Amino acid sequence: MVLMTTSDLPLKRIARGKVRDVYEVDADRLLLVATDRVSAYDVVMAEPIPMKGAVLTQVSAWWFRQLGDLVKHHMIAADADEIIAAVPALKGHRAALVGRAMLCRRGTVFPIECVIRGYLSGSAWREYAKSGTLAGETLPGGLEESSRLDPPIFSPATKAESGHDENITIGRMREVLGSDVTSELERLTRQIYTKGRDVAARHGIIIADTKFEFGHTRAGEIILIDEVMTPDSSRFWPADGYQPGRPQPSFDKQPLRDWLDVERHADRWNGDAPPPRLPAEVVEATSKRYLEAYRRLTGADLRVS
Ligand SMILES: Nc1ncnc2c1ncn2[C@@H]1O[C@H](COP(=O)(O)OP(=O)(O)OP(=O)(O)O)[C@@H](O)[C@H]1O
Ligand SMILES: [Mg+2]
Repeated sequence: MVLMTTSDLPLKRIARGKVRDVYEVDADRLLLVATDRVSAYDVVMAEPIPMKGAVLTQVSAWWFRQLGDLVKHHMIAADADEIIAAVPALKGHRAALVGRAMLCRRGTVFPIECVIRGYLSGSAWREYAKSGTLAGETLPGGLEESSRLDPPIFSPATKAESGHDENITIGRMREVLGSDVTSELERLTRQIYTKGRDVAARHGIIIADTKFEFGHTRAGEIILIDEVMTPDSSRFWPADGYQPGRPQPSFDKQPLRDWLDVERHADRWNGDAPPPRLPAEVVEATSKRYLEAYRRLTGADLRVS
């Protein structure tokens, strides 16, 4: 298994996010490649995390395989040999694909992130603590930090070209996408998350919140795209030790965050890029957490070959 900070494949690269590289295969297909980059506090670290890219891609693939009855989705293949068979230009690059690449149907992306929250945390908790609202809508009183929300709350955001995504009201989403598409995306978001939250809870992981992206095909069919209920697109919390009234540790990034907090308090890091160099123990501990998230969720060790 190679360790990868940036991918370099013989296809046209059309985007590079914090973690994933996106290639165009043709007008109808994309190749998403999750590298081993890791970000914390919105800064991408210099050191790759072994197996992280494969965990991300294979967690999404695992969900896509279970979601077929709820929603059409973009996954064509997440197996290197199947991908090479479908895209012969990638022959000779198997090692760079294995585990981490996903061949996808390409859609026109709806420019809204469908965020759903089943627990009150992060920016949502801060807004509620300040004004009793979430995305401008009033919530019941008396909720604590990390309280479970039933039903979960749909809180869309705009996809910002740079910087932070901005929370918007559902009314604003209707203005952008129309009310039929808005209702359909909210319905799908609720169904997918409700299933995901239940499945993960049975495996000892709380998916506190998550974000979905949807697109549509040329035939007008709505499809679930991007990554799905991964530790990078969601808050994963260990279910054991869950206790409302305080922040919960992150299942995957806590060792990294804890170490960065120490560096910051010691004035060895100002919170911006460039980040400090990660010690081998922190890299190792973070890799183990990602692999453990995969193992808990799916009930099997991640095998990539
Ligand atoms: N099936 C698809 N069709 C078209 N675009 C897609 C599809 N799946 C994912 N995308 C797009 O590919 C891009 C993946 O980029 P990625 O998530 O790595 O970076 P980002 O969203 O720009 O930044 P960040 O790293 O903060 O998430 C997103 O813009 C997403 O909307
Ligand atoms: Mg993204």
